[in-house]
Amino acid sequence: MDKVIKTFPEGFLWGGAIAANQTEGAYLEDGKGLTTVDLLPTGEKRYSIMTGNLPSYSPLEGEYYPSHKAIDFYHHYKEDISLFAEMGFKSLRLSISWARIFPNGDDAEPNEAGLKFYDNVFDELKKHGIEPIVTLAHFDVPVHLVEAYGSWKSRKLVGYFEKYARTVFTRYKDKVKYWLTFNEINMLLHLPYVGAGLVFQKGENEQQVKYQAAHHQLVASAIAVKAGHEINPDAQIGCMLAAGMTYAYSSNPDDVLDAMEKDRESFFFIDVQSRGEYPGYAKRFFREKGITIQAEDGDEALLKNHTVDYIGFSYYASRLTSTDPTVQENSTSGNVFGSISNPYLQKSEWGWTIDPKGFRITANQLYDRYQKPLFVVENGIGAMDEPNAAGEINDDYRIDYLRAHIKQMSEAIQDGVELIGYTSWGPIDIVSASTGEMKKRYGYIYVDRDNKGEGTLDRSKKKSFEWYKQVIQSNGADLA
Ligand code: BG6
Repeated sequence: MDKVIKTFPEGFLWGGAIAANQTEGAYLEDGKGLTTVDLLPTGEKRYSIMTGNLPSYSPLEGEYYPSHKAIDFYHHYKEDISLFAEMGFKSLRLSISWARIFPNGDDAEPNEAGLKFYDNVFDELKKHGIEPIVTLAHFDVPVHLVEAYGSWKSRKLVGYFEKYARTVFTRYKDKVKYWLTFNEINMLLHLPYVGAGLVFQKGENEQQVKYQAAHHQLVASAIAVKAGHEINPDAQIGCMLAAGMTYAYSSNPDDVLDAMEKDRESFFFIDVQSRGEYPGYAKRFFREKGITIQAEDGDEALLKNHTVDYIGFSYYASRLTSTDPTVQENSTSGNVFGSISNPYLQKSEWGWTIDPKGFRITANQLYDRYQKPLFVVENGIGAMDEPNAAGEINDDYRIDYLRAHIKQMSEAIQDGVELIGYTSWGPIDIVSASTGEMKKRYGYIYVDRDNKGEGTLDRSKKKSFEWYKQVIQSNGADLA
């Protein structure tokens, strides 16, 4: 038996994660087309648009759209990457904006200026020895595909996505090894417009539409895995789950069954992407709900033969469920997955449960289920950072959160979980995906910009900057 206690392996990919739409800005620059996220304003309308219940095909007068400028990474990427390098990043997870490459989504030719931008970013990363981890679709779809075809409702999207994936796999085959297909693919069930550009018509059967769109994304994901491996046999192509185990509120078997079913709502996607077929519980669910999935000949084989190489996941919080209506009243706010408040745990300022042990449990749960390497591609705490009189940000609450989670990640490794890396969310402050706020900050680097888009965009280091640098330097041994 192996007596050595294993913690972070040699070459562990420490780093941070960002997404194009929350970071880049330059929303129509150099030929980029409008994407779904560019139509998400802050304020009241945001949630109805995100759930697909309020159609919006162009920006509205009087609304503020935070993605349009975001933190202007498009023009600041060199400065930002050099700060990441100063922290010792081994990897940076970022996404390509589909509409920078194919502005309408169905264009005959890609947009060279868009391709060039990512060439520049990847070259800059390489210069600093930072490995890019690239998501093909992080909550964005070119708006033209929504208007013309109904986005992922349509099978046509599979073909357009394949063309986009093949274009970027080919262009960057010497620069990018790690890919992820769809960010938090299970988000489609909770925020269908965010996850898949879905807008519902009056009277439409939403569940039917969502699972049909999910089928299209799952097939597109398998095709991307196939294409990626054909273009570069060394490529590592993963899926990405918004993870977080669901606990049962009580030992009542009804609660336990409910918790299992809630987890399966999410596992459904990864079961298909990693095990290569629709699980029995999903078939039963479809039967009982009268959901019919239109599949094409060959879909089954595609799903079976092109499963993912690794499982990427985000972990922010565990979830808690109960079948007792009096307990259900006590639900947490700000969590799109819906959870009741866990009496044993604290919450963030946005109501997200803080549960470091849940991180270890979730990692074990995923590894037990899939037996493939895991990659933690998001984790962190959104908090309000206020500079003190000297202009410093002493974000000890962030350090505490990350320290506790990294400790539990090391426990998971000792449990035998195979982990490739850890990219914490938003290493530089970016726009919040759920609320569109800038004041919900995750970064080690502060960006001077507020909820209304005011500010100099200057970057400065928070206390956590030096802390994370030392974590990386010591390969996770020094968390003090
Ligand atoms: C994940 C997303 O859901 O959580 C990110 O992949 C998002 O895009 C992150 O930003 C944190 O959520 P929020 O709403 O605090 O930005």
